[in-house]
Amino acid sequence: MKFLITAGPTREPIDPVRYLSNRSSGKMGYAIAQAALDAGHEVILISGPVALPAPPRAQMLRVTTADEMYDAVHANLGDIDIAVLCAAVADFKPAAFAPHKIKKSGGDPVIQLVPTRDILASLGALPSKNFLLAGFAAETEELEKNAREKLKKKRCDAVIANDVSVPGLGFESEENELTIYLPDQKGRVLPRGSKRDLANALVKILCAMK
Ligand code: PMT
Repeated sequence: MKFLITAGPTREPIDPVRYLSNRSSGKMGYAIAQAALDAGHEVILISGPVALPAPPRAQMLRVTTADEMYDAVHANLGDIDIAVLCAAVADFKPAAFAPHKIKKSGGDPVIQLVPTRDILASLGALPSKNFLLAGFAAETEELEKNAREKLKKKRCDAVIANDVSVPGLGFESEENELTIYLPDQKGRVLPRGSKRDLANALVKILCAMK
């Protein structure tokens, strides 16, 4: 099967030296890519800026901003079977890019933000698609309620939720705990473990759904 996986953060430029971003290290998404490759699948990995090496044999596409990730995802849907959107895409970007470094002497700066395009929702809204669509949900409260809302609103086949408020799990860590939500089914917990083990289990579950 052919996977398209997104991973890592995006960076939204404010001026030539500053950007808005988040704590995603790419470890979860890269582990899913590696698990899919190890299971003999093809992988297109679309990654924001991270410090991880490209998994050997993955078709690697590196992007910086949410807009670039959106375009790279849509340009590579081709013959994919499973899309797993694990990237922590910025929800907002500065309304305007300041072409010169914003000076401290100019007073307290006000940066107006505008929403980015939602990549996952745009795939869920495609009039027809032949691939399984799995999104992630990074939550700090009401995991199930918020994940199920995303499942419905973004029209995914599965949402994989993680509680990113638990120390040692979620962003940047080596370990995670995932709960997979499908429409009309009880959440399935993949208990705390290495991102690698969780990714292996997740790839098997997603392949069985396809
Ligand atoms: O990279 P690590 O350090 O290993 O950390 C892993 C992780 C915590 C980043 C990962 O497990 C995770 O939760 N990824 C999703 C992060 C996120 O942005 O969640 P969200 O609940 O804000 O977004 C929900 C879904 O919409 C996600 O599939 C996201 O990729 C997608 N999205 C969000 C905004 C946007 N503009 N476009 C999107 O496609």
